[in-house]
Amino acid sequence: MPKEERVCQFYKLSIRKEGDVFPCCLGKWQARLGTIFDEDIFEKIETTNISCECEMYKTRDITPDDKMDLQRLHIMFSHECQAHCVCCPQHKDKMEREDEHLKKLLLFIEKYHPKYITVLGGEVLSQPKTLDWVENIKTKYPNIAFDTVTNLCVGKNTIKRAANIFSEITISILGFTPNTYNKIMGLDFDVTMKNIDYLQSNTNVKIRPKYLTMPTNVYELPIFFEWALNQKSEKIYLHNIHEFMDCCNLEDVFWQKTFSQVEADIKKLLLNNKEFIINQNKHFISLHPILASMLKIDNNYLEENGFTNIIKITS
Ligand SMILES: C[S@@+](CC[C@H](N)C(=O)[O-])C[C@H]1O[C@@H](n2cnc3c(N)ncnc32)[C@H](O)[C@@H]1O
Ligand code: SF4
Ligand code: SF4
Repeated sequence: MPKEERVCQFYKLSIRKEGDVFPCCLGKWQARLGTIFDEDIFEKIETTNISCECEMYKTRDITPDDKMDLQRLHIMFSHECQAHCVCCPQHKDKMEREDEHLKKLLLFIEKYHPKYITVLGGEVLSQPKTLDWVENIKTKYPNIAFDTVTNLCVGKNTIKRAANIFSEITISILGFTPNTYNKIMGLDFDVTMKNIDYLQSNTNVKIRPKYLTMPTNVYELPIFFEWALNQKSEKIYLHNIHEFMDCCNLEDVFWQKTFSQVEADIKKLLLNNKEFIINQNKHFISLHPILASMLKIDNNYLEENGFTNIIKITS
């Protein structure tokens, strides 16, 4: 398929915790536009010609007919988090110039009125200042749709506030028994499950459960998947840690045997729920390429079973 040529920063902006501004989440250095602390950052956004290419897009130079039409603003806040996930790539570092940073972010919203805002930490729901800031923006601009990615293991009051702010919530789940979940994340499984029940029963928030498979939770992937299929999930992520290939030799017979058991369970669930999955009629399941290969699910399998475009192998 030919790539769409566009001025990427006119549709999406991604702002990092340090303040670096990019036209997308890939954060390619040649596409960096400056930092939010630059006096002339808006001029840079509106006049810089970037040379960049990825799977979907190729940048082109700005013409006088091009206008900013910001669809999505992606904001990364402080990396502080109440959890202790063994696989977390972050180090809980704070935003260095937080107050100034938050004021500058507000200017971006006032100037470009994005349709959607994604907020990410660390853990936004456990950062009082960040949550206050996001809540204030939502009150001021109720038409902006917010989404976040979270562990969701927070108190009742925070869940109620989150339900008033977010239209969609992706929930990272790194184990599916209380013990595994607690050991891997340092969190309480029952609290998270109760919060999910609350969102499903009392609010219109769409949930996207995301399982992050790793050596210590592989066998709980099928029970997560079965549960997620029984929720009102907007989308289900069957993913794995990026480091899976580094932390174990997946070609070893041990892992081949382990995954053949998980493969049988997952394929059984796929076939038993085939009609329900196909009836979703949208990209409903995202399967990470490493997991797909270990579960022996490829595009042929998806096509043969009618899952094309509904289950996608994506990272
Ligand atoms: C660092 S977390 C921050 C958001 C939130 N605290 C959470 O965990 O969902 C951002 C994303 O990274 C994912 N993640 C965490 N550790 C990972 C790893 N080692 N490999 C791949 N993704 C990872 C999480 O599932 C989440 O979707
Ligand atoms: S071409 Fe792709 S990677 Fe480059 S800025 Fe645009 S969306 Fe980002
Ligand atoms: S919940 Fe997210 S940010 Fe917190 S430790 Fe786990 S992966 Fe990292």
